[in-house]
Amino acid sequence: DWTPDTFVESTVQELKEQLGDDHVIMALSGGVDSTVAAVLLHHAIGDKLHCFFVDHGLLRKDEYEQVLASYKDMGLNIKGVNAKELFYGRLAGVSEPEQKRKIIGASFIDVFDEAAKEIQKELPEGTEAKWLGQGTIYPDIIESISVKGPSATIKSHHNVGGLPDYMKLKVIEPLKTLFKDEVRRVGKTLDVDPNILGRHPFPGPGLAIRILGDITEEKVRILQEADDIYVRNLKESGWYDKVWQAGTIFLPVQSVGVMGDERTYEHVVALRAVGSLDGMTADWIHLPYDLLAKISNEIINHVKGINRVVYDISSKPPATIEWE
Ligand code: XMP
Repeated sequence: DWTPDTFVESTVQELKEQLGDDHVIMALSGGVDSTVAAVLLHHAIGDKLHCFFVDHGLLRKDEYEQVLASYKDMGLNIKGVNAKELFYGRLAGVSEPEQKRKIIGASFIDVFDEAAKEIQKELPEGTEAKWLGQGTIYPDIIESISVKGPSATIKSHHNVGGLPDYMKLKVIEPLKTLFKDEVRRVGKTLDVDPNILGRHPFPGPGLAIRILGDITEEKVRILQEADDIYVRNLKESGWYDKVWQAGTIFLPVQSVGVMGDERTYEHVVALRAVGSLDGMTADWIHLPYDLLAKISNEIINHVKGINRVVYDISSKPPATIEWE
């Protein structure tokens, strides 16, 4: 019978046998999957696992600092990489969703390549990292197969594949047979920070695909503030754990409002909360009106640049969870 404990025990043993004295390089995303995969690898090979965490400037508010600190607390051999300028620069003026994903995917590879070179340089003479660790889980494999059908790509998820040939690293994916709930159970057995284990899924391209239209630092800041209010209220009201995924979307329109005696012409954000098992289908969540009212008031009163909040009542299909 499958239990998280037997999975951990047999996987750590297999990883030890497979990796021997080899070094592994791994980029962590702050999400459940890559974190649990890294902790498993760390159990097997200790500091021969070299992790890094990239700030692409499109994470949630304060997330980079918090996640990096909790990785350090968990004892992982990790480095933070600040690559905000690179991502903002390459994304400037780009509005088309697939274009954004391509730029972000390519930039991740460049940052990865740079970080991997740094790590290689620090290894003892004659040693070379041969492996790339990844947090791929079973549904990632299924979805990447299904979107590559003859009907063309639906969305190019950058998590699977995308590794340039010249990097010549062999891929190691300790979670590739597991579903999300199993990954969480394994993480719990491994004492992974509950804040990371309970986190909603967050797309690799981050807030870039929650800002419709082109991305500016100002829009990122506004969205981060609004989203922070939304997520905090979900947590305080007990709704966060009942929702599979929630997020705030910055819309590419301005609308008229009044503030005191003044007419305003400001931005609109949409709130999204969905229930789902695997992200393939999803229903919008009937959050209580009182909670929505509180969140809307707080956002409009505290986030300069927003004068209207709307709630997304679309399910998947035919809508998707993200707006891009
Ligand atoms: P959609 O919008 O396709 O999202 O209903 C399904 C799930 O996938 C996430 N998502 C992504 N994750 N890179 C990712 O790593 C992406 O480009 C991407 N696009 C969507 C989305 O957040 C949801 O959990």
